[in-house]
Amino acid sequence: MNVTVDEDRCRGHGVCSALCPEVFDLSDDGYATAQQPEVPQRLEQAARTAATSCPERAITLH
Ligand code: F3S
Repeated sequence: MNVTVDEDRCRGHGVCSALCPEVFDLSDDGYATAQQPEVPQRLEQAARTAATSCPERAITLH
């Protein structure tokens, strides 16, 4: 599974990083980046939860 964060949609809510910090990092300006674009299997459920919890729907899993 791979993850991407749409920089245009991210508004810096930070839910993703709170729920799955191993995959999502917040930059200095508060926006999310995927520090592990290829999600390890053990983190897939947490990454899914983060994606569905993002209020801006900025996270795509594929
Ligand atoms: Fe951005 Fe959504 Fe995370 S708005 S900081 S991708 S919860």
